[in-house]
Amino acid sequence: MLATIWRRTLRFFDQNSGIHGNQLGFLSPLDGGQYEAYLGWSKFPRAINMHAMSILSLQSTAEERTHMSALQTTAISKGYFTMAASASSLGLLMLAALLSTATAQLSPTFYDTSCPRALSIIKSGVTAAVNSEARMGASLLRLHFHDCFVQGCDASVLLAGNERTAIPNLSLRGFEVIDNIKTQVEAVCKQTVSCADILTVAARDSVVALGGPSWSVPLGRRDSIDAASSAQVANNLPSSTSSLAQLISAYSSKGLSATDMVALSGAHTIGQAQCQSFRNRIYNDTNINSAFATSLQANCPRTSSSTSDSSLAPLDTTTPNAFDNAYYSNLMSQRGLLHSDQELFNGGSADNIVRNLASNPAAFSSAFTTAMVNMGNIAPKTGTAGQIRLSCSRVNS
Ligand code: HEM
Repeated sequence: MLATIWRRTLRFFDQNSGIHGNQLGFLSPLDGGQYEAYLGWSKFPRAINMHAMSILSLQSTAEERTHMSALQTTAISKGYFTMAASASSLGLLMLAALLSTATAQLSPTFYDTSCPRALSIIKSGVTAAVNSEARMGASLLRLHFHDCFVQGCDASVLLAGNERTAIPNLSLRGFEVIDNIKTQVEAVCKQTVSCADILTVAARDSVVALGGPSWSVPLGRRDSIDAASSAQVANNLPSSTSSLAQLISAYSSKGLSATDMVALSGAHTIGQAQCQSFRNRIYNDTNINSAFATSLQANCPRTSSSTSDSSLAPLDTTTPNAFDNAYYSNLMSQRGLLHSDQELFNGGSADNIVRNLASNPAAFSSAFTTAMVNMGNIAPKTGTAGQIRLSCSRVNS
């Protein structure tokens, strides 16, 4: 257990050194000295230690979080952290407490007594929607990703308004499926189950409905009382033109590793993209299979027009409606649909991860489910933060 935490710690600092301090506003970037100090438990700098463990808790399993929480308690009792800290350390302690409390409060059994029927209602709603249109499974999974990356998994993306009409969100689908499930859940448990949790569970059930792996979903998120701006959407979501370095950095800023990033991209084993998302790739990229590019050009002409821009092609050319690991084999034969997909296998640092996930379906299932839990843990609202919305598309009046 400790070895796992140390491994995550080292990985975290390798990938995040200097980044998160700036993002959190009142922290100065970690420097090499602090990194060194972190390696010895008894020599931890008091503030950084608490902060790092809280951030780490965002990308750890529930069991590891429990263990880290115990370590924090021990550390406090041994006086490693004192309230005689400076103002910034005090702020840090409060932040650390908030972060670790937030993730610690998420639990797969959260609604077991307050709304025992919630999970089965969500599953039935998702299964019915996917049975009537397979693509809906893909659309619900994408909706959850776009929710979590912008302002955390707080259902802000479901609110009618700015966030939903931001350019990367214009092609999102599935709002009415979530609204419909919410209505059914409200009918049995008034104002108890959040839209953020419904969306998180719906993403899992979508994967299962299309033949993918299942996992236990930590629950207890609450809903935001505001939507994000279109600028926040643009700044937080990676784009189809992103380079590998930009993709790694976008995920790292959410506490997700490069392995999480490659595994989550496997979601592109289902669903469709519009011509305007891959036009430049099929006419201008050189790392694309030429027969594949030619076949796509028939429905995606070089010149933009309102009809051709929205013409669809499957993200996984081999098994478009099956949640399997074919996406990675496609990348290895230069058949990634999006420029950003092919970046994962283009002679760079992610190549070996792609090779492993292409050759080993069990490794993909394991990496994907772990990464989905990690993504679902991004900045949840818990306790008394936010609200439980009555309707997913608007805040309570
Ligand atoms: C790695 C960075 C990512 C980029 C740049 C990206 C970009 C895109 C783009 C451009 C589309 C097509 C949109 C359109 O043309 O209408 C798309 C579709 C989709 N994305 Fe991603 N995506 C990324 C990661 C993810 C993740 C993490 C997930 C979920 C875990 C996901 C799930 C999906 C699904 C399922 C679709 C198809 C949706 C449908 O058919 O309605 N994507 N993505």
